Amino acid sequence: ATDLTGRSFLKELDFSAEEFLALVELAAELKAAKKAGTEARRLAGKNIALIFEKTSTRTRCAFEVAAADQGASTTYLDPSGSQIGHKESVKDTARVLGRMFDGIEFRGDSQSAVEELAAYSGVPVWNGLTDDWHPTQMLADVLTMTEHSAKPLTEIAFAYLGDARFNMGNSYLVTGALLGMDVRIVAPRAYWPAEEIVAQARALADKSGARITLTEEVADGVRGADFVATDVWVSMGEPKEVWAERIEALTPYAVTMDVLRATGNTDVKFLHCLPAFHDLGTKVGKEIHEQYGLASLEVTDEVFESAHSVVFDEAENRLHTIKAVMVATLA
Ligand code: CP
Ligand code: NVA
Repeated sequence: ATDLTGRSFLKELDFSAEEFLALVELAAELKAAKKAGTEARRLAGKNIALIFEKTSTRTRCAFEVAAADQGASTTYLDPSGSQIGHKESVKDTARVLGRMFDGIEFRGDSQSAVEELAAYSGVPVWNGLTDDWHPTQMLADVLTMTEHSAKPLTEIAFAYLGDARFNMGNSYLVTGALLGMDVRIVAPRAYWPAEEIVAQARALADKSGARITLTEEVADGVRGADFVATDVWVSMGEPKEVWAERIEALTPYAVTMDVLRATGNTDVKFLHCLPAFHDLGTKVGKEIHEQYGLASLEVTDEVFESAHSVVFDEAENRLHTIKAVMVATLA
């Protein structure tokens, strides 16, 4: 069996395809055990630190509930409640927390911060989202795809529409490439992932048999897709000023019923890591609605609420997959 004990999960490419898939499989087992009421507490006595320099609903709750289910305890460090980044360096924080905790989750802007934590803490560190990658989200998305498709992963096609220069776009591209899938990035050229990430994905695809497409054409990009995914057009940490330019560039890439029809697949499923601007009823949504007069952004409410949408299965799977990461690396 695959042994991941002591390993960190800082980005998708820390693991081989076999290791990544072993985590997805373990997540499916843990999900079944929880539903059957037969879950064993494999993390009893473990202490886990959760560092969040940015806000979170799913990732934080998934770590806390997963830890509780497995008998571990958690300490939540919020964006203002610790010395990290203000008075104390990441390197010093890592050496302190490594003396107290068995594992550390980190969410923040900087990939180098999560890498530094791993280098100096001496315990497994898990990336709960940085500007560059969202690896635990990818485990949940792959689990969700396996649950909602009868095809083997290597035959599944998925298209990601929207800003692909950031965590979600990067992660989808390399994950699809790693696992030998048919992955399409559908966005204006200026919003494609950085050259070196595309090169990395192409190199992986040579080995895995993945088909990689980057295109500006929505109809071509989504044709035959089993899954269509998107993400917010403005990510955490970005200034308000970018909304106007994003709306202008990305509106043609919003996921509408027409986009789903263009797949030619009546059974196509919709994915979104959430939170989503499908109705603009939230505080930020209302501001955008007032300023730009739009009813939705990256996905219409019609798609989001349709039978195509599997976003809440995807959200639930954050719990089971994050649990799998902790169990595999700590137990
Ligand atoms: N998808 C995701 O990471 O959600 P949160 O920001 O709520 O954790
Ligand atoms: N790209 C988004 C993902 C949120 C889960 C962000 O970084 O804010």
